[in-house]
Amino acid sequence: MASASRAFSRALRTAAPTLRSTTTRSARLAALSQATQRKPWQRGFTSSSDEDGPDKYPGNPTGLLVGAATLFTGAVVYGLYTQKPELFGQEPKRRIFVPRFGDYQKVYDAIAKRLHEHDNYDDGSYGPVLLRLAWHASGTYDKLTNTGGSNGATMRFAPESDHGANAGLKAARDFLEPVKEAFPWITYSDLWILAGVCSIQEMQGPKIPYRAGRSDRDLSFCTPDGRLPDASKDGSHIRAIFGRMGFGDREMVALSGAHALGRCHTDRSGYHGPWTFSPTTLTNDYFKLLLDEKWAYKKWNGPKQFEDVKTKTLMMLPTDMELVKDKAFRKYTELYAKDNDAFFKDFSDAVVTLFELGVPFEQPEDLRYTFKSSFD
Ligand code: HEM
Repeated sequence: MASASRAFSRALRTAAPTLRSTTTRSARLAALSQATQRKPWQRGFTSSSDEDGPDKYPGNPTGLLVGAATLFTGAVVYGLYTQKPELFGQEPKRRIFVPRFGDYQKVYDAIAKRLHEHDNYDDGSYGPVLLRLAWHASGTYDKLTNTGGSNGATMRFAPESDHGANAGLKAARDFLEPVKEAFPWITYSDLWILAGVCSIQEMQGPKIPYRAGRSDRDLSFCTPDGRLPDASKDGSHIRAIFGRMGFGDREMVALSGAHALGRCHTDRSGYHGPWTFSPTTLTNDYFKLLLDEKWAYKKWNGPKQFEDVKTKTLMMLPTDMELVKDKAFRKYTELYAKDNDAFFKDFSDAVVTLFELGVPFEQPEDLRYTFKSSFD
């Protein structure tokens, strides 16, 4: 490059005379006398070429052309060398792909498209089971040891995939495989959580702001069995499990509102049936039904669960019933039954916390991504 620019300046010097004006001597004299007749403030910025003549070098235009061509060739060669080093026998340049908001929105859109295309699953949507995958990936977090949580996607491996609580979640993981193939740069752990965000929003829930940056880890990071809640237990168990993650009563009740979605499967948890009449749309109906309906033990061979007396089509788990039995929990159940906005706000906040437990993010909290839903 340096030699190219030297050649160019040499060429300029030779070619400069071609810029010389063809002004005749008499014309220049006339111009000079006109200039001297003007007052100094009228002369303005008389250029030196007006007064001294355009230049004093003889030359020809070929030099300029040669210089320009040399400079151009140099620039092209330099550009090729830096952009395509392989043409010069060097290692090809590696581009580091840094995904941005738009890239994650594309992944969101792909999941949303699959959700709407595959509406023959369960009650018409994979949404609930995708949300359950994201929750079970995150809900293993232990704040004391800072282990577990969504960083790692360790549920890909046995023994975690075989934990009783995770029965049936293979359907969700398999559903996301084509998305992972289409966007290989995203980690499974970011993808599963993004799918949870997408399913809540696509099932008409609140916006769930999202941060990326989880990495996939090997099976040595699998958490021990027993970190997720057991539906047959009482309030002290709920507080022990969610307290271990760092949540308080209000957040526990808000998070439980996810049971407005989906259903229990006898071949997975042993329980049976949906909690609400609209299991693919997020509403505060779960809280309304808990308070407004009469619930009785279901008479069957399965584990202890409740059914609504009126239609016998809905169900509640023993842990769900704690949200009306326990006074401190009930306060929030009543609040959310009355006020869907309060539920959506608290649910969104608690889910954002849940999905981020134990993840060492670089993306700052105030720069989370909020994705457009397919119906925005
Ligand atoms: C005390 C706490 C909880 C207990 C004991 C519990 C238990 C269960 C059980 C037994 C099932 C049925 C699984 C099956 O048979 O397929 C289920 C489903 C589900 N849970 Fe929970 N859960 C709890 C909290 C949560 C939380 C915090 C969320 C999300 C924020 C959540 C989201 C879901 C969803 C969406 C389903 C439906 C899955 C489907 O339709 O396949 N649960 N839960």
